[in-house]
Amino acid sequence: MATKVRHTYGSSRQNRKITAPSSPISTLSSSPPPNDSKKRSLDDFFSNKLPSAKRPKIEKTEKQQPQKQKQKTLTQLHFCIDQSIVRTCTLCGLAYTKGADEDEALHKKQCARVQKGMEWGREEEKDAMKAGVQEVASGVKLKDGKKGRIVCIRADVKGKIGSKLSALLETVNFALSASPLSQSVLKVSKAYILLLPTAIPTRERIIGCVVAQSIETAMAIVTSSPDASADTVIMHVDHSTSISCDPIPLPTPLGIPRIFVSSSHRLLGVATALLNAAAATFVHGCVLDPGKVAFSQTTGDGVHLMRKWGCTRMYDEDKTESESR
Ligand SMILES: CC(C)(COP(=O)(O)OP(=O)(O)OC[C@H]1O[C@@H](n2cnc3c(N)ncnc32)[C@H](O)[C@@H]1OP(=O)(O)O)[C@@H](O)C(=O)NCCC(=O)NCCS
Ligand SMILES: [Zn+2]
Repeated sequence: MATKVRHTYGSSRQNRKITAPSSPISTLSSSPPPNDSKKRSLDDFFSNKLPSAKRPKIEKTEKQQPQKQKQKTLTQLHFCIDQSIVRTCTLCGLAYTKGADEDEALHKKQCARVQKGMEWGREEEKDAMKAGVQEVASGVKLKDGKKGRIVCIRADVKGKIGSKLSALLETVNFALSASPLSQSVLKVSKAYILLLPTAIPTRERIIGCVVAQSIETAMAIVTSSPDASADTVIMHVDHSTSISCDPIPLPTPLGIPRIFVSSSHRLLGVATALLNAAAATFVHGCVLDPGKVAFSQTTGDGVHLMRKWGCTRMYDEDKTESESR
């Protein structure tokens, strides 16, 4: 029996990191990587590796120079040492071109957002009522003792809150090397955001986000495949790991296509609090069991989280997108 393989952002991420030195997103740009084949090292320059016509004739010129020419004005030359200028930041995972102003600025912005999260301030609060922002949990206690609140927003919201959410999702997609969610998916989704107070009373920080999508069906994860004839669907987690799913579609009301917590706030229970909030409020008047929630593509960290939270289903995000178009 056939085994279907779904290629997900978990697997494509590895490739993209190598082939695309920076920004895959429209607003983000980068310089092309340096063309190594055209570069020469200083060793090459002063060795016999160069064609003789291009080799500097140092000895001959010195011997033939008349004494008076030694007084000639000297010019300071600056050598650019040949080395790769594409850097991959270990903090945010972004590959960018060092020395290219636009790339460096983009990296600085992305790095800060990935580590500390984005701000939620007065402007957002002013627009909150109009945008239908709902507080679904308050006094949410994290493992470090800090307390935050969770707000829920329609994922296709417009206006100031819409711009903020777009910027947030852009950062999340960029960090996951995932493609943007289509308008049709956003239309049936809600974003849950955990806000933490800052030293400035009018400002909070967005430290985590879950996109919760209304879906029809998902597949059960099969832990091992003792039944060799099982017609499984393989969902990639990363380049070395994958999860097998039973292709029988199970009615499933809630899918999680994106989940992200800023790196300085991980393992504090932020993702768990956001998933609990989504499961409790996504379907009005019905608290969903984690077993009735599915993740789409995921990562290694995501699998740990899924297991701990009790999620046992996955769904194909690309399939739901094409179906809902
Ligand atoms: C995956 C992610 C959202 C988890 O967020 P989080 O706020 O750190 O998760 P929680 O603190 O709620 O973790 C809950 C449980 O999940 C497990 N877990 C989460 N991250 C883990 C990790 N990196 N390694 C091992 N276990 C992990 C733990 O069992 C944890 O409970 P415990 O700390 O009591 O043992 C976060 O690591 C992240 O944003 N990663 C980058 C984006 C990503 O990979 N998203 C998933 C793809 S959709
Ligand atoms: Zn960085």
